[in-house]
Amino acid sequence: MLEVLPEGVVIRKLWIGESDKYGEHMLRLDPQSRRNRFGGAVSDDYIRKYADLSSALETIVHGCFIDGVLRGAAELRPLGSNRPRQAEAALSVEKPWQSHGIGSALLARTLLTARNRSFCLLHMACLADNQRMQQLARKFAAELSFDFGSVVGEVESSRPTPLSLMREFLTDGHGFATAMLDLQSRMLRA
Ligand SMILES: CC(C)(COP(=O)(O)OP(=O)(O)OC[C@H]1O[C@@H](n2cnc3c(N)ncnc32)[C@H](O)[C@@H]1OP(=O)(O)O)[C@@H](O)C(=O)NCCC(=O)NCCS
Repeated sequence: MLEVLPEGVVIRKLWIGESDKYGEHMLRLDPQSRRNRFGGAVSDDYIRKYADLSSALETIVHGCFIDGVLRGAAELRPLGSNRPRQAEAALSVEKPWQSHGIGSALLARTLLTARNRSFCLLHMACLADNQRMQQLARKFAAELSFDFGSVVGEVESSRPTPLSLMREFLTDGHGFATAMLDLQSRMLRA
């Protein structure tokens, strides 16, 4: 899928030790987005613990950085040995940056990663009144099937291909290089 993102936007996987950035991003969500992200009202403390836990589990988080600040994230969390080859996905984009294609770009990366990990079923909990997420899920109709009150997606193909692995490898490499350049320019400015 073609990604047309605003200038200065970098999408890459979060590294170990960046769970505080993830927590700060989720704490900045407006009340409605926070409710939609977690399927109900949750406290700041809950979010901090949730972010800490995400680095301990086998969770893969793609982050969207704008001018070096994490403004959007997509999480891919395996459901464990009881439900092998199944994972849960969850997305969040801070309000001022919604409707700029960031959610779509994050979901595309998450689907590629899910495919390359051979997940064949991807669950996305979505409240029935969350039209924005439903609209986003519809954009990926070829890869996700939509159900009332929840999105349960079947990843297009359970088998990774050399091409799908190469695509993830290239986007990871590009994300790393851009992050290094960003860091370097910040240090020079300081
Ligand atoms: C759902 C969410 C991740 C979407 O992120 P986003 O960056 O706004 O998504 P995009 O800009 O890629 O838009 C995706 C689609 O949503 C639809 N959309 C965008 N803005 C919309 C609006 N104001 N109202 C209704 N639909 C809208 C459009 O169809 C859009 O696709 P298009 O731009 O190709 O037409 C974001 O709104 C969010 O973080 N919401 C709060 C948390 C949440 O609901 N998470 C999902 C549960 S896990």
